[in-house]
Order: sequence, then structure tokens, then C-alpha cells
Amino acid sequence: MKVVRRRGWEVPEAQATPEALFWDRRRLLTAGGLAAVAAPSLSVPALAQRRGQPAVALAPIGPAQTGDQVVHPFPRAERFAEAGRAVTAEEVATTYNNFYEFGSHKQISRAAQRLTTQPWQVRLDGMVETPMTLDAADLERRLPREERVYRFRCVEAWAMTVPFSGYPLAALVALAKPLSSAKYVRMETFQRPEEAPGQRQFWYPWPYIEGLTIEEATNELAFIATGAYGKSIVKQMGAPLRLVTPWKYGFKSIKSIVRFTFTDQRPKTFWEVSGPSEYGFWANVNPEVPHPRWSQASERLLGNDERVPTQVYNGYGEWVAGLYRGLPASERLFM
Ligand code: MTE
Repeated sequence: MKVVRRRGWEVPEAQATPEALFWDRRRLLTAGGLAAVAAPSLSVPALAQRRGQPAVALAPIGPAQTGDQVVHPFPRAERFAEAGRAVTAEEVATTYNNFYEFGSHKQISRAAQRLTTQPWQVRLDGMVETPMTLDAADLERRLPREERVYRFRCVEAWAMTVPFSGYPLAALVALAKPLSSAKYVRMETFQRPEEAPGQRQFWYPWPYIEGLTIEEATNELAFIATGAYGKSIVKQMGAPLRLVTPWKYGFKSIKSIVRFTFTDQRPKTFWEVSGPSEYGFWANVNPEVPHPRWSQASERLLGNDERVPTQVYNGYGEWVAGLYRGLPASERLFM
């Protein structure tokens, strides 16, 4: 997804959404579930139950075993046991990757092995009761773990199906205890140009940043993957922890996260900054909204190159459509 830098006058008028319209918070707050963000106290289980989702349970905090890895595979969640498509071969999913820190092409799997993933500290900060820094494996041990088979759709119109294992992002949010004033979660990747040659390409806005609203982050689908294919996740897929939001284009699924910051400001994301006329904050899969340079009506399945129709929200509408019901039509340009 290289960015073609268009000059201002080349942006079609329809894409030049005024910022005020784009981010009309009042309208958002009237949009069903998002109203819950304004509640005086933010209880993640309460939010989940209101939406008819199972509440997340935090495991009791056991004795610290810093450095030990958590052993995969995790039990497969029945409701995500299959994704209506054949699982993509592991060899394919681990050799065709986007990880710009290691190069702006797909064959970065060898280069990514330079990333040091142990020790790995994760910071939870911003608008939270108490900021904390945790070892990634300790964090994982505290949270409910499972395996989920998810469809994954890249904005470049290729797709795969992967058994990811990890924990619900909602569980991490519950552990962080955000204040009721927090509206977004901003996520940040490591910044180590000595290990990641792509980060020496100064024209990209490193480090890689992504963001979700609190409502999105506590949706049942939002998942932190620490494993794939029954093992710890490999470096090229975002070890030791990466986001998976299967209803959004793949670029939202930020890899190798070091920091979760709770904030009342919408985060400026890596691709939004790099190519604002092509990539937006919402990035919900939508076959009816073409990318400025290609159609999103169909996608190519990695492995057999079969072309299949793309589904709105990548077929996960029953979980997430309610989150966006009140968005003005103009924002659909960025879905
Ligand atoms: N996260 C970081 N830190 N850097 C990246 O370049 N690329 C994104 C996303 N997460 C990216 C990232 C994009 S564009 C996609 S499509 C997915 O990772 C690809 O995930 P995969 O390589 O596991 O298929």
C-alpha cells in the first residue's frame, strides 16, 4: 500500500471531507453504543452486557513469572471456530506480509527476524486509573486466552483466514481501567531503527500508530494476537502482540505493540498521516466504497488466488454494524 502523493487539487471534491463534519462528536454520541462512552464511569463488562456480548473475566493475578512465555495452543472459542473459508496455509500467511518497519514489500519475513522480542514491555497509560508497565507475557497470563479463526482483509484487496490466538482487547482495556473521559485507545509500535531498517525511511511518520474508539476496542471482535497457527506469533506477523480487528482493513491491525494510551483525542494514525486522501481512521471493510485507485468490490484469497466478493464489515456486521449507525454519509468515504 505505497502512498501516491497527490497534490491538493488532484483530490476529488467528494473526498475532501471537512474535518468539522468528519469529527462531529455530538452526532457520534447520539450513535447508539457510542453514547456509552459518555457515561460517568466506564465499566467494560457493563458495556459488553448492554450489547449482549459476554463480559470478559480477568484471571486472578498469579505470581510473577517474568520472562516465561505462555504456552500455545489456546482453546478454540466455539463462536469463532471457523470463518466460512478454508484456513490459509501457514507458509503463505507467514511469507506474504506488510510490516513497513522491515521494508515496503511483502517479503520481509527474514528481515523481521532482527527484531528483539524478549524482553518486551507494554505500557498502559494516559487517561487510566494508574499507568503501568508490564512484561508482555505477564500481561497475557492475566487475561482470558483463546484461539479464534478470523477472516482478514487487506485494503490492497487480498485476504486470508488465520487461526489467531491471544486475548480480547476488551480484557486489556478492563485491566487498564480507563477513566470515563477516555474516548479512544491509541496504540504504538516499537521504534528501533537499528533493528528495523524501514524506520530509517524518514518520509514515513514513525512509529506506526493506530487507534480505535473505546467502543470499538471493547467490541467482542477486537483481539490481541500473541499466537497464530497454534504457536507463538512469528515476528513478521507482529510478535509478541498485535491487534486484529477483522471488520476493518488490515492496516488497522497494528503489529508489535509497545504502548496503549487512553485519550480523549482521536489519534492520528500512520496511514492517515502518510496518505490522508487514501486512508482514514475508520477503515471499515466496505465493497461499495472504492479505494481512490482500485475497486474494493472483490478480494483475492491468498494461496489459491480465487477472487471472491467482498462483504461489508468483512462479513462481521452482526457484531459491529451498530457501532456506526449514526455516522453521517460523508464519513462512509473512509469506511
Ligand atoms: N503494523 C506495523 N507496525 N507496521 C506495518 O507496516 N502493516 C499493516 C498491519 N500492521 C503494518 C502493521 C498492514 S498494511 C497489514 S495488511 C497487516 O499488518 C498485515 O498483517 P500480516 O502481515 O500479518 O498479514
